[in-house]
Amino acid sequence: MNILEMHEVHTFIAGFHILEGVTLTAEHGKLTILLGRNGSGKTTTIKTIMGLTPAGSGEILFQGKAIQKMHDFEIPWLGISLVPEGRDVFSQLTVEENLLIAVRKGKNITKQRLDYIVNIFPPMKDLFKKKGRNLSGGEKQMVAVARALVNDDELLLIDEPTKGLAPIMVESMRLALAEIKKNATIILVEQNFEFASSIADDFLIMEHGKIACGGKIGDLINNEEMQHRYLGV
Ligand SMILES: Nc1ncnc2c1ncn2[C@@H]1O[C@H](COP(=O)(O)OP(=O)(O)OP(=O)(O)O)[C@@H](O)[C@H]1O
Ligand SMILES: [Mg+2]
Repeated sequence: MNILEMHEVHTFIAGFHILEGVTLTAEHGKLTILLGRNGSGKTTTIKTIMGLTPAGSGEILFQGKAIQKMHDFEIPWLGISLVPEGRDVFSQLTVEENLLIAVRKGKNITKQRLDYIVNIFPPMKDLFKKKGRNLSGGEKQMVAVARALVNDDELLLIDEPTKGLAPIMVESMRLALAEIKKNATIILVEQNFEFASSIADDFLIMEHGKIACGGKIGDLINNEEMQHRYLGV
């Protein structure tokens, strides 16, 4: 079953035609990796799903329901979380407060859920009382992803979580995503092909605001010509 489908989605930003007919599917329970060179439209694709750069035309289906006309503040309530690029955390708030502030209005976070999150990111346990401004880049990225887990959403959209991270933090992120994937569907934007190929089930490659190709990750791993052509690997 597909948790998400996009059909011929066009997005315009400031008069520029950025997504030029994106058509893709993401299967429920899988980790789909969205690859592509700089500026190919990966971030715009996930922002368009969230309604942050709304689709000008085309259709976006989440669990079969058309969402392309919904507002950006309504979409998370369907059960979709975004981890934007840039790992922003609130610098004045503690790690714990950064997590609690992400809980949607009218909902509560259970002790069980917090334990689940700490289990995924074990170093977080000792960071709970630390202010955002005192975190390292890797710790901020951990908090940024952890914050997207508080609502127990069906679909997580994560934009370049390993960018600029030290190898050891990249490995922690890989382990965390492998764990998160057991309970949620993930669409992951990633430039690090080695990292991507180690955890993805499926792949999509963007080029010039469109999906150029996609399939099972094994097909890409075995196809050096495709890697070279689209990714410059
Ligand atoms: N606010 C904007 N105004 C004008 N052009 C924009 C704007 N935002 C994005 N673009 C353009 O849209 C294209 C796609 O950008 P997008 O950020 O989606 O690419 P990306 O694949 O995420 O790139 P990167 O790998 O660098 O993160 C780029 O050519 C970019 O310059
Ligand atoms: Mg981007």
